[in-house]
Amino acid sequence: MEKLQAALDKARNSRRERTDPGVEVKPVAKETQPSGVDARWQALTSFDAKDADLIRHRVVTRHARKEATPFDILRTKALLQMRQNGWKRLAITSPMPQSGKTTTACNLALGLGRQRDLRAMLFDLDLRDPSVHAFFETQPPYLIGEMLTGAVSFEEQALRYGDNVAVSMSLHPETDPTRILLAEDTAEKLTSIQDAYEPDVMIYDLPSVLVNDDTRAFLKNADCALIVVRSDSTTYSQFEHCQREVAEQTNVLGVVLNAYRHDKRTT
Ligand SMILES: Nc1ncnc2c1ncn2[C@@H]1O[C@H](COP(=O)(O)OP(=O)(O)OP(=O)(O)O)[C@@H](O)[C@H]1O
Ligand SMILES: [Mg+2]
Repeated sequence: MEKLQAALDKARNSRRERTDPGVEVKPVAKETQPSGVDARWQALTSFDAKDADLIRHRVVTRHARKEATPFDILRTKALLQMRQNGWKRLAITSPMPQSGKTTTACNLALGLGRQRDLRAMLFDLDLRDPSVHAFFETQPPYLIGEMLTGAVSFEEQALRYGDNVAVSMSLHPETDPTRILLAEDTAEKLTSIQDAYEPDVMIYDLPSVLVNDDTRAFLKNADCALIVVRSDSTTYSQFEHCQREVAEQTNVLGVVLNAYRHDKRTT
């Protein structure tokens, strides 16, 4: 019994020592300022787009709704495949113009943005005919070409939609797009952006493959590509030609059949 009492006293004394008021216990300072990657995202200038404007441009993924479902399925499938393969850079192209590339790219970007735990980036690399700004009805302060060639920083040029989508776009065409798309400096710039901002997905909205050399020049910078074909205008031989060209340079993630009407037979 005495032994037990002695042990209890010892434990009580040692507890008292640990909470001795003479020993100052400093509260751990709560970190309120974001640091590193979060701070870099917060430093991007934010912009918003009106839902009505987006919908007019067929960008429907800002909110979860019925019309967004096909793009949400595409987003989830693309994301899972990319994660499985460790891919981050997704090119979007098509055989011929006006197939729905930019529509698909914007819908994917905003659909990814609804996933709060993801970060997504959208680059308008259709340098001869940039149109992403028109989809968002937004005027970026600098051209994407100025950022890629180092005249301005990504932080100055890109705009942030919500907390987790960065959009790098242009108001005007570039005079020598192929040079920028082929340049080693462009590849290095994109790698440095990826390192600094750690996006889960970088979407590259590219021109069509069969109209000029721009997409061919750039595809080495993509981990994979989606080919958008328009059911009412793309021919099979155009698709085949495009797929061959893309597969020579990167992984074909899949093919999006755009503007297909389920009720075709009944109309
Ligand atoms: N499924 C669809 N149904 C009807 N119209 C569509 C559909 N997808 C896209 N469009 C419309 O087709 C036009 C071209 O779309 P978009 O700009 O996305 O194509 P693009 O392939 O990026 O064109 P470009 O080659 O000029 O860059 C736009 O007016 C767009 O709203
Ligand atoms: Mg386009």
